[in-house]
Amino acid sequence: MYGVCMTLQAAHPGIVSWLCEFPTPRKFPFSHRTLPVRPGDVTLEPSVFHFSLSLTAFLVLNLRPMNILALLKSRFAPALKSRVTDPASLLEMIRVAQDAKFGDYQANFAMSLGKTLGKSPRDVATEIAGETQLDDLCLPFDVAGPGFINLKLRDDWLAAQLQAATTDDRLGIEKTTKPRTFVIDYSSPNVAKPMHVGHIRSTVIGDALYRTLQFLGHKTISDNHLGDWGTQFGMIIYGWKHFADAAAFTARPVPELSRLYRLVSKLVEYRESLAALPTVQQKLTQRQAEIKTLQSQPAAADKAAAKKAAQQLAQAQNQAKSLQEEIDSLQTKIAAVEGDPQLAKTAAAHSDIDQRVLAETAKLHAGDAENLKLWHDFLPHCRDEIQRVYKRLNVTFDHELGESFYHDRLAPVVEDFVARGLAKDSQGAMCVFLPGFEAPMIIRKKDGAFLYSTTDLATIQYRRETWQPDAILYVVDHRQSDHFEKLFAAAKLWGCENIQLAHVKFGTVLGEDGRPYKTRSGDTVGLEGLLDEAVSKANEVVKSIDDANPTGPQFSAEQRQNIAETVGIGALKYADLSQNRESDYTFSYEKMLAMNGNTATYMQYSYARVRSIFRKAETTPAAVLAAGGKIVLSHPAERALGIQLLRLAEALATVEAEFRPHYLTTYLFDLAKSYSTFFENCPVLKAETTELKNSRLLLCDLTARTISLGLSLLGIGVVEQM
Ligand code: ARG
Repeated sequence: MYGVCMTLQAAHPGIVSWLCEFPTPRKFPFSHRTLPVRPGDVTLEPSVFHFSLSLTAFLVLNLRPMNILALLKSRFAPALKSRVTDPASLLEMIRVAQDAKFGDYQANFAMSLGKTLGKSPRDVATEIAGETQLDDLCLPFDVAGPGFINLKLRDDWLAAQLQAATTDDRLGIEKTTKPRTFVIDYSSPNVAKPMHVGHIRSTVIGDALYRTLQFLGHKTISDNHLGDWGTQFGMIIYGWKHFADAAAFTARPVPELSRLYRLVSKLVEYRESLAALPTVQQKLTQRQAEIKTLQSQPAAADKAAAKKAAQQLAQAQNQAKSLQEEIDSLQTKIAAVEGDPQLAKTAAAHSDIDQRVLAETAKLHAGDAENLKLWHDFLPHCRDEIQRVYKRLNVTFDHELGESFYHDRLAPVVEDFVARGLAKDSQGAMCVFLPGFEAPMIIRKKDGAFLYSTTDLATIQYRRETWQPDAILYVVDHRQSDHFEKLFAAAKLWGCENIQLAHVKFGTVLGEDGRPYKTRSGDTVGLEGLLDEAVSKANEVVKSIDDANPTGPQFSAEQRQNIAETVGIGALKYADLSQNRESDYTFSYEKMLAMNGNTATYMQYSYARVRSIFRKAETTPAAVLAAGGKIVLSHPAERALGIQLLRLAEALATVEAEFRPHYLTTYLFDLAKSYSTFFENCPVLKAETTELKNSRLLLCDLTARTISLGLSLLGIGVVEQM
């Protein structure tokens, strides 16, 4: 070990310093043995031979660390470690420079460290940078202002990294040395209800995380937690028993099931709205009285009291406003039935439909033969329906264990919670009281029914037993935050402290009117219709590009349609992924298919244009390399493009750390912009020398491959011509 380290200390000091950063003891990825590694460890016994070999393999793999930021951090770590016990927060202050005139990267820790050490930050900066091995990567450093260390990468080092990437399928991105097992729970629609635009977010974000984490070397297990056991089946079963059109079902099962679902849910909502209305109206009357009283009070004498009164009034007015909105929505549901004579008649004939739907669901769960048979008849059709959408989106799952899969585990889970003293009876319901939460988590209702939470606990138990994950990611709407906070707290009490449970939440898809996205008729948009529309709009875009081709259109109608499929679906996915997932986003075909801007269309078009250069040059990247092509960075735009190409690893690391794919789209957009500047300033085919032409062709190829790799990690395809 010592020998290896010493040799490497000369060859690659960064690696040794990085190695010395390991906490002890730690498991080495290649040896599968827990070995303590400390700075200064010297062991040369034969028994560590196996370990040394593994270590060598491990180090060789790390000889091309393409994450520049991580590399710089590893270089600074030893000097910082010798001054403070935990340099993590100081290392975070090494960043990409905001302004190119300060270099490429900046280390800003000296100001904070100077305070800790009671020294001048400039002296601290100079001392630390002087002790740090940087000259193989950077030009001589420069300390600016109060103590910023400005770092500019060496052109020859950059060119060597890029050259290595030209022959590497992974573009120099190494697999992680700390692989974790991730279970990713995404898509997870409630089947038998039509899938809607909200499901696309979970599906697309989950798929992008799955692909990215897998590419980075983690073990990834995708599990589509289908809602295949809930009340919606009670509705369909009730609908089947009372309103079925058997011929329609035989001809087209899913539309008939959807019709039954919509009919019954409308009637149930009608009943529920009728029942809820008086209470809400009463609350509103109370608030209105309160507002009147507050308004008629004489003005307060002092400022503080006046402020308090104003706050009280504003609060009451807000509450009145939201109660009024609730009443409007209840009345809309009531009018939907009462305004339609046929429906009103049906509603009158099924006045206890809400109770009877619950009873049908309860019978299904209790194993009633008739209901179970209906469920078995209906489920495959519902599954086929969603599979069509997945196929179109090019999304697959390792597992699709729906809620029904966990049915037999629910009672034992509740028993286990009770046996461990974690759940208590409260007015007949079994509740888990969680520290820090006002309301408990109910895991069994008074009537014996289990809940969504119970199933989720059973699911955690199964996933733990089956896959031993390090992390479970739930890619689910932010409106379920409360559910997941409680679920995770309960799971912790239950002994899951060592699993990272993360709610990867996302916002709502809005229409251009700022309200949840709907079609003109007011129904939430079906997913398939949405995909069709995106593809048809993409076809118009492809057509307009093709028609404008100076040498005349080059594609047949069929080719255009194929391109449009990739472009349309890509646009839809990218529009979703390019938003910070937690914000709501506005759905607009026009924006998502824009030819310039942060869109898949722009990225795909950039890719196709780079590829067309090779066609024009009548050569290939392999031929350029075979002819001895070498990357040289002679122009600032080439250098800027080169650095941007090498920053893919940094972008992927942020996606990995925060489960936010938009870091990758932002990166790709910046890359496309760097490429565009390069292309405007640096002639490729008309470069002054063959060497320069070859170098630029290689930069073009790296750009195309980076776009294509980046898009593929987002689940988006490219087209060679567009
Ligand atoms: N089926 C649920 C819904 O549509 C989402 C399920 C998310 N996953 C989970 N394990 N709870 O709201």
